[in-house]
Amino acid sequence: MIVEARGLGFTHRAGTAALSDVGFAVERGQTVGIVGESGSGKSTLVRLLCGLLPGYTGSATYAGREIGDWLREDAREFRSRNQLVFQSPSGSFDPRLRLATSLAEPLRSLARRKPEPGELETQLGEVGLSAELLSRYPHELSGGQLQRMALARALVVNPAVLYADEPTSALDVSVQAQVLNLLMDIQDRLGATLIVVSHDLAVVARLCEYVFVLRAGSVVEHGETTALLRSPASPYTRALITAAESVALDRGVSPVRGGAARRTIRGWRPHG
Ligand SMILES: Nc1ncnc2c1ncn2[C@@H]1O[C@H](COP(=O)(O)OP(=O)(O)OP(=O)(O)O)[C@@H](O)[C@H]1O
Ligand SMILES: [Mg+2]
Repeated sequence: MIVEARGLGFTHRAGTAALSDVGFAVERGQTVGIVGESGSGKSTLVRLLCGLLPGYTGSATYAGREIGDWLREDAREFRSRNQLVFQSPSGSFDPRLRLATSLAEPLRSLARRKPEPGELETQLGEVGLSAELLSRYPHELSGGQLQRMALARALVVNPAVLYADEPTSALDVSVQAQVLNLLMDIQDRLGATLIVVSHDLAVVARLCEYVFVLRAGSVVEHGETTALLRSPASPYTRALITAAESVALDRGVSPVRGGAARRTIRGWRPHG
């Protein structure tokens, strides 16, 4: 297991118990979905697993090592291996900085180096963006472009695990499909572990081979996506499926990609 949690609990500073007794396990190279209604703790869980919320109870490990220990001993190393694309692309860029500066920031702070000549341009090419966007400010991009930019920024440090929190929910329907395709493409090419949060089961069905269902801070069920969608054990999951079906599952979206060929981007080396 590359990521594993047992009896994981977390209470926000304001006193909200957001996670309790969460069990979670992800194998290297897997695409895993986390679904659940608003407020069920999805963002809290991925932020915690990315090392952004210290002070949990129970156990959460990355590559067999307790996340809290990694963070205390080498936070930069941990963060460069675990990258999160935030729920809102517009809020995740500093509006005062040109995108070239924002894109280079993880390199500067985590890898302690400047970009090589052409490196940022290549990175943008990987997410289907033109290099001329580098000199712009965040408000000068569309939502879809900004979401691609957020993906590029997460990938610039070659993470072993990429977390995407609601990667499409802030986007126009026409752009949603493009970003989903891009995520699938990235995962196929990099073979990285991809953990996707969505309240929309159709998104998870399209991207993920395994899914965890979260409700009020606990996992209510988990399993292979196809099997779980076909015969959900809990009424809560059934309700989520019904909600998703009315929107997109019946648009011919085939759940679960399997056996996708894993190619490797030149020069890309997954950590750990
Ligand atoms: N910074 C915070 N301070 C206090 N409480 C918080 C904070 N962030 C989240 N919470 C609370 O923790 C619980 C879980 O929130 P979380 O953001 O993880 O849910 P979510 O499943 O991501 O929801 P959504 O689908 O709306 O994004 C909620 O009750 C929320 O109000
Ligand atoms: Mg959230």
